[in-house]
Formats: sequence, C-alpha cells, structure tokens
Amino acid sequence: MCGIIGFTGYLDVKNVLLEGLEALEYRGYDSAGIAFFEQDGIKTIKTTGKVTNLCDKVEGTSINSTCGIGHTRWAKHGGVSYTNSHPHTFGNVTLIHNGIIENYHELETALAHQGKYPVSQTDTEIAAMLIDSLYDGDAIETIKKAIKQLEGAYAFCILFADQPDVIYCLRNGSPLVACKSKEGSVIASDMVALIKYSKEYFVLPELHIAKLTKDNIVVSNLEGAIIKPQMLFVKWDMTAARKGGYAHFMLKEIHEQPSSLRSTIMPRIRNGSLPDLTADGIPNEIFHGINRVLITACGTAMHAGLVGRVLLEKLLRIPVTVEIASEFRYQDPIMDESTLVITISQSGETADTLAALRLSNEKHAKTLSIVNVKGSSIARESNYVLYTHAGPEIAVASTKAYTAQLSCIYLLALQFALAKNAITEPECASFVSQLQSVTTAVENTLSLEKAIDEISSHLKETEDLFFIGRGLDYALSCEGSIKLKEISYIHSEAYAAGELKHGTLSLITEGVPVIALATQTNVYSKMISNIREVRARGAMVILVTNGEIAVDSSIYDYHIALPELDDLFAPFTTAVVLQLLAYYTTIHRGYNVDQPRNLAKSVTVE
Ligand code: G6P
Repeated sequence: MCGIIGFTGYLDVKNVLLEGLEALEYRGYDSAGIAFFEQDGIKTIKTTGKVTNLCDKVEGTSINSTCGIGHTRWAKHGGVSYTNSHPHTFGNVTLIHNGIIENYHELETALAHQGKYPVSQTDTEIAAMLIDSLYDGDAIETIKKAIKQLEGAYAFCILFADQPDVIYCLRNGSPLVACKSKEGSVIASDMVALIKYSKEYFVLPELHIAKLTKDNIVVSNLEGAIIKPQMLFVKWDMTAARKGGYAHFMLKEIHEQPSSLRSTIMPRIRNGSLPDLTADGIPNEIFHGINRVLITACGTAMHAGLVGRVLLEKLLRIPVTVEIASEFRYQDPIMDESTLVITISQSGETADTLAALRLSNEKHAKTLSIVNVKGSSIARESNYVLYTHAGPEIAVASTKAYTAQLSCIYLLALQFALAKNAITEPECASFVSQLQSVTTAVENTLSLEKAIDEISSHLKETEDLFFIGRGLDYALSCEGSIKLKEISYIHSEAYAAGELKHGTLSLITEGVPVIALATQTNVYSKMISNIREVRARGAMVILVTNGEIAVDSSIYDYHIALPELDDLFAPFTTAVVLQLLAYYTTIHRGYNVDQPRNLAKSVTVE
C-alpha cells in the first residue's frame, strides 16, 4: 500500500527515485509522483496511473538534482486524480505520506479559520498545511509540534523549501526503513527499494525523527536525544527482487518454494530428527501453562492459520481458534497469560494484525508471531518471533510466504507437542522426516505445471466457481479461492463440502466449475459423495487427490494427482496446485498477475 522513497546524496536523484518507485510498484498504487530540490526551489512531477507514465513525463524535462522524494499512491482519502497524488506542497513544505490522518477533518476546520484551504481531497495535504503553519525555521521542533496534533497511522518524508538537500522523516504505525551508503542516504517504505544501496539497514523507530543529509542520517526521539537505531541485515540481494527470467514475480515465487521451504525448515531441525527453535529464542518454557491457542491474521496468512488450527488441535488436544484480525481487534476477546496468541504476517506491518497483537499484549497473553520481514513492527512487538525465510515476496498474491508460514506452524506445533509430552520423540521424528520430504514433494508438484496450465485454459470464460473440501482441504479451499479471485477476477467461493446442501448447491448448474479437494483419507468417501452431488447438477469438476487414487472417472472432468504424502502434509502440495491454477487462469484471461486492481501487498491501514 503506497510506496515511499527518499534520497539525498551523490547520484542523479531522478534515476534513484524512479528506480525506487518501480521496485515498490508491487505494493499496489494508482498514481505516482516525485519532488526534488533544484537551484531555484522544489519541483514536483506527478501523474495518475503507472510509474511508466511518470517516467515518460520525467523524460521530457531536464532535472539537475541529487535530493528528492518519490511516492506511489493507493487512493484512500479522495479519488485517483492528479491533484490527489503525492507529493503535496503547501507553503514551505513538500511531503509524501503513507497511512491515514484520522483527525484530518478537525485539522482542516482549524486551518480554515486561519484562511487556509486545501486544493485536493486528501488528508495528506492537510498534514502539509499543518506542518507549514507550524514551521518557524526549526524543522525538528515543528515536526514535534505536528506530531502532537496528528492522529492516525503515518509515515512522512518532508522537504522544507529553505533547507536544500535535507529530508526529514517520521513515522507512527506505517513502516520506514533507511540505509547509508557511499552514494548517499536512502529511506523507503520497504527494503526492496533499499537493497540496491545496502544490505544493512535500520527500521526508523516509531515517533522518532530522521534527518537525512548527503553523508549522514541522524535519528532523534521526541525528547531531542539522538539515538542509534539497531542495524539489521538482509541475506538476499537484488537478484531476489528481480524476475530472474520468469514472466512474472508470482511464477518465480511459486517456483522458489522448494528452496524457501528448505531455508525455513532445515535450520530448525536438530540432529536431523527433532524440531529445535531455541536459536529463534523460543524455549520450551513458553509452552508451559498454555491451555488455549488463538491464531489471528489477515488474508492468506489467516488461511495458513486455518491449517494451523487443524494441526495444533490434532497434536496438542487443546482448543485452537482462528480469528480474522480486523474482527478480533474489536471483539473484546477473552484471553490471559494461559493463552498463546500466534499472529501470522508476511509483511509484519498489516495494520489489523498489528492491532490484534497489541491487544493481545495488553491482555497479557503470550504472543508469538510468524513473520517474513525482519525487524517489522509485528516481529518487534511480539514476545517471540519465528521468521519465515521466504525472501522478498513481490507479487501481491502470496505464495511462497504462505507455504513458509505453514512450515513454521508445523515446526511450532511439533515443538509444542513435544514440550507437552503430547507426542513421543520417535513420533515427532517421524513427523519431522515427513516435513522434510515436503520440499521434494513440492518440487514434484511443480512438474504438473503444464497439465495445470491446460486445465486452467478451460476456466478462461468462467465468471463463478467453487472450491470445496473438508478438514484441511476446507482450509486449502479458502486459500485456493482467494488466490484465484484476487488475480483472475473470477468470483469464487470456498465451501466446506458438507455445507453444500445448505446453500451453494442452488448455484450449481450445467458447466459451473467446482474444484474439489479430496486429499484427506478420513473424509474421502464423504467428499466423493459431495462431488457426486455437484456432478449430478452438471458441475465441471476438477478433482485433486493425494496420490494416484483410482476414482470413478465419471465424477470428474479433470483429475490432478498430487505426489503422495501423509494426509497431514498434503496442504503443501495442494497449495502449489492451487497457486498454479490461479496463475494460469489469470494468464489465459489476460490480466496483470502481479498487480491486481485495487489490491495492495502490504495493508498498513485499517
Ligand atoms: C494483503 C495481501 C495478501 C496478504 C494479506 C495479509 O491483502 O494482498 O496477500 O495475505 O494482506 O498480509 P500479511 O503481510 O500480514 O501477511
């Protein structure tokens, strides 16, 4: 959601900003703009639509600058228009902003009393007006005064017209990361835009102010003390954030799964047989006294939680619930120190998940997060963190982060079960060995790509379809359905197969596609009956089974047999099939796979 890049240093800022914005495109946006210092003041160039439109506009101008800020906007307050796009200038102040200023209306009214009126419909311009109205030549003091008046989540990069080549930044809620290199000082909404300059970076602490000059970044707190932020290091490099020969990031990320699973699982296996999370700072003691687990997350991460619920309950025999974070945070949930709250998030910045985590911390639950982005807010604010080592995920549709999240949940469940003596060491070792074999099974599933491409071509004209499954397959149906609908724009629903008769069956008519997941032995015959029900009403059935099972061929149109795994591990291979199905269906329909309309990769506002 909205991308931020700021640079001051020794390079042509135009290139730095445009490249940075291109790297941030994946976050989702509908307009883009830059502002930079020139000899005669600050200049702004902005446009609706894609960064390429901005590049075209910039090409026709001669820019001579080494300091500026750039932004991709995902419309929130005010529609998509040139006027509403960032940067916004008022008086001395030019700024870009991620987040939402919740009290913008009151601020706007107060500014109107001073005879000041915005030209856009954005909350961001109100922030520019506020900061300008407070500015007395001392940027840091002005920002501190503004913070006292601003409510909501925000990240700002600010240029003051009378302070050439300096960028001031602050954040509350929305992320900002920064790094220094010999080329200059860089700040961005995420690491993908920084990696070109340095692998070492820091997260700007909340409610701190960063002053970027060519050779230095000084971070101070609201009391005026200069602080040294904790430096972090990423293992991946520029190549990880490029398509590397694949047509799309999503396809590349689907294919990266054997390796991301290996990187996530292997370092956590002791002597090749038992899980060991002590190097992650997760000792067995944290499981003592826990009599309930609550998993909360959004979107695909929440679907990983649905798998986690089945697994944890099966292994631990304690109640596990999964809550959509945006609901959970307003439900006055019941929890205490005997509750383990697991938050799952790729970005580690999802506003609702972060709020759910904060609420859990307030209620003294033990909090553990499964997160992909190092140093992100959710990771920092959780009592314990288990990182997925999926590397950067660029496509909006989450793929490798999801399977890496699953693998963390499996490791966690096994460690927890062992700590509680709910399983024996030999049982655990057998589970671990199956978990390790998942990487090869995922590799083999990828070899079904051509067949899945062919099957997907039959969904090209579809407008509605259904995913059905039971148990773990229902959790996977939810994930398959979201994957497909978010990028192919086909309306799709996931149904617990046993519920069909209570609703969806009325929508099954001749030719309606039903993707039936039947990987679970304990409910296999029930699933086959459900498939017969939809088949009898003319459904076009795509059947997915765990291994080459002999099934009556009259009940399906297409059959995908996964490499055989123990039922409990089938979610990994099933997920890959569903990802490929969503990918190729979208390709056949001719839509933008990596950047679906209206969606954002990292949702940092409510
Ligand atoms: C957005 C993304 C999804 C993601 C969800 C949660 O909706 O498009 O792919 O699953 O946010 O994001 P998180 O970063 O918390 O996993």
